[in-house]
Order: sequence, then structure tokens, then C-alpha cells
Amino acid sequence: MRTVLIGPPGAGKGTQAHRLADYFDVRLISTGDMFRRNVRAETPLGLKAKSYMEAGELVPDDIVTEMLVQELDRYPNGFVLDGFPRTIPQAQALETALAERRRPLGAVLKFAIPDEVTVARLAGRRTCTHCERTFNVELKPTKVPGVCDNCGGELMQRDDDREEIVRHRLDVYHRDTEPLQKYYWERGLLREVDAVGEVEEITRRAIAAVKDIRT
Ligand code: AP5
Repeated sequence: MRTVLIGPPGAGKGTQAHRLADYFDVRLISTGDMFRRNVRAETPLGLKAKSYMEAGELVPDDIVTEMLVQELDRYPNGFVLDGFPRTIPQAQALETALAERRRPLGAVLKFAIPDEVTVARLAGRRTCTHCERTFNVELKPTKVPGVCDNCGGELMQRDDDREEIVRHRLDVYHRDTEPLQKYYWERGLLREVDAVGEVEEITRRAIAAVKDIRT
């Protein structure tokens, strides 16, 4: 099972990626989480990525593609990919890397949601610094404020969730990432998932979409 999730910031890709990876028993690979871990650890990669992320810009294709291709080799049995590809050159690089490994992509899910809903969601988002699960102070509060329900880790607010940065990330999404829909539609891999509703219901829709494309 090799599935890519695309959609605007705040569409719920990270939330659903954890749930799909658990359901299909495959690894979750999130390029956003990988970059944030590197930024926190102040690695050379993190130092390169930091300014782009803080500004809501995409990290350059060559940096993210090299990081991602190395990661693919760690999980030959399948993955849910959250946050990659985000540009046509990234999609082409992924296609080439998977073809070389004779492990083609199975499905691409596009999470569809109005921009204004995502802005509201991101304003209340809190992310676990340990397991990277996301919660929401308004929409999906944890049992104990500031503490992750999944692992007990500390929750933090992302620097790029300020409204003006979120709006810029949305512009970048519409400009650079939306063209991927046509790219994957032409390859027969794309399914659209309505990303408005209860988390559990959206998971059911996403699982049904993956199964639909595999039959
Ligand atoms: P990344 O971390 O990938 O951010 P993103 O794509 O902008 O997506 P988000 O994580 O903001 O949102 P999400 O869709 O995962 O929503 P979530 O589930 O958290 O990337 C960050 C940065 O890294 C980029 O800007 C870029 O700089 C860099 N980067 C990463 N990959 C790159 C690449 N390939 N190329 C170049 N640069 C790259 O949910 C959001 C909130 O809503 C949460 O609070 C959640 O609890 C809540 N929520 C979720 N579902 C529901 C629901 N159904 N109902 C109510 N609330 C919900």
C-alpha cells in the first residue's frame, strides 16, 4: 500500500495520515514532521529548511527530494506519504524513484476543503512534540490541556500557524501543489475525499477511496 495525501494546509492530512497508516499497517512518512524534527535538533538540513518554513514557503525541491528518497528505502513494504510531493518536479522525482524500485504508487487522495475552514482549524491546532499527533483547542481538545492524549508528550503551537502565514501557505498551495491533481488524474491514481466533517467519518471515506482504486 503506497498512498500519497495532498490537500491544502489544515485539510487534516496529518490527522488522517496517522489513522490510515494504523489501519493499513504501513509507515507514515511526513516531510513536514521530518523538517520540524531537523529544525528542533538544529541539524544542517534543519538550518537550511527553517527560513522557508517560517515564511510559509516551500523548501527547494532538491533538498526535500533527497531527504524523501533516502526515507523511501527504509520502508519497502508501503507507506502513507503526507506532504510530498508538493510540486510537479517532486512528483516526477517520486515516480522515477519508485519505478527504479519496482514499487509504483497505488493511490493519491486529495483532501477537498474550503480555505476558510482550514484557516479556522489551524488557528487552534496544537501538535505533540514527541509523537507529532495533532489536536485542536476548540475542535479536538485533549483530555488534559497541553498534554498529548496519545503519548503524554508536551503540545506546542507551530510558528507557521499565524493567520498571515497560513494565508500565504494557501496561496503557495494553490499555485504550486494544485497542478498535481491533473498530473495524478491523468495517471488514474487520484481520488477526491471530502475533508469536511467528523474525523472518523473522513477516515472511512479515505479508506473507501484507497480500496476503490485498488480494485
Ligand atoms: P506540512 O507540515 O506538510 O504542512 P501543511 O501541508 O501545510 O499541512 P498542515 O500540517 O498545516 O495541515 P494538515 O493538512 O496536516 O492538517 P492537520 O491534520 O494538522 O509542511 C510545513 C512546511 O514544511 C511547508 O510549509 C514547507 O515549508 C515545508 N515542506 C514540507 N513538505 C515539503 C515539500 N514536499 N516540499 C517543500 N517544502 C515542504 O489538521 C489541522 C487542524 O485541524 C488540527 O488542529 C486538527 O486537530 C484539526 N482537524 C483535523 N481534522 C479535523 C476535522 N475533521 N474536523 C475538525 N478539526 C480537524
